[in-house]
Amino acid sequence: MQPLSQVLPPSAATTPEGHLAIGGCDLVALADEFGTPLVIYDAGLLRDTMRRYVTAFRAHDPRAEVIYASKAFWAQALLRMAHAEGLRMDVASGGELFMALHAGFPAGKIVMHGNAKDAREIGEALDAMVGLIVVDSLDEIVLLDRLAGERGRVQDVLVRVTPGVKPSTHAYIATGQIDSKFGFALDGGLAAGAVAACRAAANVNLVGLHCHIGSQIFELGAYRMAAGLLAAFASEQGGDDLGILDMGGGLGIAYTRGDTPPSVEEYADMVIGGVFAEWDAVGLPRPRVMVEPGRSIVGRAGLTIYRVTGTKDIPGVRRYVAVDGGMSDLMRPMLYGATYEAILPGRPEAEATQTLRLVGKHCESGDVLIQEATLPPVARGDLVCLPATGAYGVAMASNYNGVTRPAVVFVEGGEATLVVRREAYADLVARDL
Ligand code: LLP
Repeated sequence: MQPLSQVLPPSAATTPEGHLAIGGCDLVALADEFGTPLVIYDAGLLRDTMRRYVTAFRAHDPRAEVIYASKAFWAQALLRMAHAEGLRMDVASGGELFMALHAGFPAGKIVMHGNAKDAREIGEALDAMVGLIVVDSLDEIVLLDRLAGERGRVQDVLVRVTPGVKPSTHAYIATGQIDSKFGFALDGGLAAGAVAACRAAANVNLVGLHCHIGSQIFELGAYRMAAGLLAAFASEQGGDDLGILDMGGGLGIAYTRGDTPPSVEEYADMVIGGVFAEWDAVGLPRPRVMVEPGRSIVGRAGLTIYRVTGTKDIPGVRRYVAVDGGMSDLMRPMLYGATYEAILPGRPEAEATQTLRLVGKHCESGDVLIQEATLPPVARGDLVCLPATGAYGVAMASNYNGVTRPAVVFVEGGEATLVVRREAYADLVARDL
């Protein structure tokens, strides 16, 4: 198990029966109790990571804020935990806004995102009185100004800037480059135009800038580079209405044993330390820094357990091992070519002697969870666990092939709590009229 330690929660242990346990709970027993596929989160690790984030950023500046990017995983239990730990909440749609409010999040702590917010979503955000709206297009500024005016409100906003920094990550999750559907480029005066439009709008109150350069980032230098460009821009724009700087999310996590992401503390040092150094260099008062982590809070804390439904040997070609889930609960391998490790919860210490392709149950050849996994011999009925599936796994789940979405369990101190029930077949027809 040792080589996998960086992709498993630190609470990973082996039970006296030789099973893998997380948060003091035997994964084999959890699969028997709750069925498979099953998504398990180490609640202690979730809470610890939230605390480390808040501590690391506030060590630089007590005004700093950590905003959880709810798109990464949005169960009510998790949102309530984030609130209890003093985080703010990033929502990117009316639906995410609803879920945050439903979890009891005070609207003032909610930050509303989206490159294509419609009038209904903006109205919902205004009616709820969300703290900040991050504006993403000139059309949106005009619409927001009108909708806020109709309500007799003045809405605080950040302008989302694309600084022209392209971190090395998958093209689908890089967002800081100029050719992007997100934000306003620094180049060509687009960001300057957005700042001017906000300043001119009577019902829009500009309070700062936002920038999210991408996701699953290991190279922290990209943040320093973005901070430098933003400082130059803030200095050019003048004014005392750019007091907040939201640097977005993006810190990467280890998906496979070779991955060595920076720590939350290293990330905080680079992001807030870098922003302060760059703001000092242009002689502006230091902004109130916010960050919006998603993946790095929930990714490593979550694991998915599948049951093997069958194996198939194609002589001279390869061995296939099929499980009872796949692209309906974990789209990342198919969408981004993401790689994962696999471990057998029933025999975590057994010697890995077989190379195989781990596939899902969907009617698509591309429904491959791991192209080449090396595992101990496995047979129908065995359990297979994929670590580090806590971010953008169930959050991106679908009902493809009428497959019901998995249950979610939080484990901590030897207790397992069902926080999201498994979908039932009846849920599959519940919306049909
Ligand atoms: N803030 C903004 C404005 C974002 O767009 C995102 C992610 C975040 C914060 C959080 O980023 P994180 O800390 O999680 O990297 N489905 C993809 C990731 C898409 C990220 C979208 N935006 C994946 O599974 O890799």
